[in-house]
Amino acid sequence: MKKGPHINTGIRKLLEIPQMYNLKRMIFGGEKYRQWYVDSFQIKEGDRILDIGCGTAHILKYLPENIEYHGIDMESDYINYCRSHYGHRAKFYNEMVGEVYRDEWKGYFDIINMHGLIHHLNDDDSGHLIELVFDFLKAGGSAFTADSLFHENQSYLSRWFVSKDRGQNIRTPSGYLQLVEGYFDTVSSQIIKNHTRIPYSLFYMKLSKN
Ligand SMILES: C[S@@+](CC[C@H](N)C(=O)[O-])C[C@H]1O[C@@H](n2cnc3c(N)ncnc32)[C@H](O)[C@@H]1O
Repeated sequence: MKKGPHINTGIRKLLEIPQMYNLKRMIFGGEKYRQWYVDSFQIKEGDRILDIGCGTAHILKYLPENIEYHGIDMESDYINYCRSHYGHRAKFYNEMVGEVYRDEWKGYFDIINMHGLIHHLNDDDSGHLIELVFDFLKAGGSAFTADSLFHENQSYLSRWFVSKDRGQNIRTPSGYLQLVEGYFDTVSSQIIKNHTRIPYSLFYMKLSKN
């Protein structure tokens, strides 16, 4: 898997600084949406969670302590931030997803989170990712995605904000669904609109393995 591709020039370069990334999230809002997203995991005590493209691991604010959490991200500054803020309750890996294959992770995870990841990856890398995720999920486990979206009847402003994302592989609903076709036993999806203070659309998927 290649690094990126995502745009990291101009003002978007600032987002590589963990505190700036967190500030952007605070300005845009969306706490209610994030709570809804995590509630959709239906977490149970002791669940093992893998978070791929964990960023600054903000999701841990919504997760109970009695779980086992592993976060992976290719940005060393994000991982350093994660270790200093959440190192006491989680494990972090500074690597590209798939760079290190851990046999012990085969069929290990109840939940795999990929919030905001796939729109950074091209179709080949997304295919490798989905294979890996299927491999690492235990039977009965589910993976979750949510990515910037282009869709029919989208407002001009929403389309404009989405087009400014750092990710260079923003897709339509059918584009995202095609990536996961043939792997999972159940796929449910929905379009999320205006979940932040700015007009913006995301595509949410829940991918379950029997
Ligand atoms: C939009 S951010 C989402 C961060 C976090 N999941 C969230 O929802 O706040 C995407 C993250 O994926 C990471 N990333 C992108 N491609 C990656 C790859 N191939 N391997 C590991 N991390 C990757 C980026 O560094 C970035 O932190």
